Amino acid sequence: MTRPSLRSAQPTTYSRILGIGGVRGENVVPNDDIVGPIDSSDEWIQQRTGIIERRRATEEQTIAAMTEEAARQALAAAGVEGSQLGAVIVATVTHLEQTPALATIIADRIGATPAAAYDISAACAGYCYGIAQADALVRAGAADYVLVVGAERMSDFIDPTDRTISFILGDGAGAAVVGPSDTPGIGPTVWGSDGGQADAIYQTHSWLTFRDGTDTSWPTLRQKGPTVFKWASFEMAKVAKEAIEAAGLRPEDIEVFIPHQANMRIIDQLAKQLGLPESVVIARDIAQTGNTSAASIPLATERLQREGAVEPGALALQIGFGAGLAYAAQVVALP
Ligand SMILES: CC(C)(COP(=O)(O)OP(=O)(O)OC[C@H]1O[C@@H](n2cnc3c(N)ncnc32)[C@H](O)[C@@H]1OP(=O)(O)O)[C@@H](O)C(=O)NCCC(=O)NCCS
Repeated sequence: MTRPSLRSAQPTTYSRILGIGGVRGENVVPNDDIVGPIDSSDEWIQQRTGIIERRRATEEQTIAAMTEEAARQALAAAGVEGSQLGAVIVATVTHLEQTPALATIIADRIGATPAAAYDISAACAGYCYGIAQADALVRAGAADYVLVVGAERMSDFIDPTDRTISFILGDGAGAAVVGPSDTPGIGPTVWGSDGGQADAIYQTHSWLTFRDGTDTSWPTLRQKGPTVFKWASFEMAKVAKEAIEAAGLRPEDIEVFIPHQANMRIIDQLAKQLGLPESVVIARDIAQTGNTSAASIPLATERLQREGAVEPGALALQIGFGAGLAYAAQVVALP
């Protein structure tokens, strides 16, 4: 039998981020407002995490509302219409419905239907996972333009009496539009996971307990803080170095460092271990926004752009890491 030859998608050589958008929870929550139930203090939280205040969503700021607004901003910044999107990816661990994916709803709201649309669950690494996928989809010819949104309403999973993680968490959505480029704009992604440490950041109990009635209390998040701290500060420095090398660069070529906004001490430790020059602009959005998981890197990028701290085209190293444990890093040219 003679088979007809199969035609594959028409690849394109390069991709880049064309525009960024970001929305934070409108409630500003200073440390003093949350220290009571955890017997902590503003001073302790600032010293150990660098967080001064976190941003939490109002009732109207549903995860879909924040995602849509961030998406619209990124499209406007990129000069791309919703109808030009071939795929919409939402990275989130706080969309409260098992199905449908938040991405399909957002795609419809922004006029992207019938774009492919799906959510990815990679926690604080989610945005960098999304950028890795968008880069691959554009270059493979599977989509002309791809929207990536990191969106979290972490406050739906906090326990005000929990000392391990709830006090660091914030809400928001950060978005990027990725499209074709004449020059390389997204370096190779170095990514991975370590499910052997799945218990380092976790949900108190499974939804199954509702069905069997053993525990009908609302599940919230917990973490083994010191374990995560060491892993993030030391193992992630290696991953970040690999991403710089994979992009054919040296640490002194990096102009901007945008790590996941987990803890100011982790950010400082990573910068030190990477040997980044003094001139590097380091994102420190955590001080005012808190840890917004998948939203933290695009939100930190949005702030740097808004404050005029970075130039278009600047080479930025971004690295996301967290529950899974999962991680991803890449060097990107800022839009
Ligand atoms: C959570 C974190 C701030 C805790 O700080 P730490 O210095 O590691 O704290 P430890 O758990 O070692 O506890 C040290 C002391 O602080 C106390 N403590 C712990 N949490 C506290 C809190 N929220 N407020 C006040 N005191 C606290 C402990 O009781 C302990 O007291 P002791 O020395 O009298 O026994 C820190 O581990 C961290 O930031 N880890 C990384 C987490 C992260 O970024 N996660 C996001 C991943 S995406």
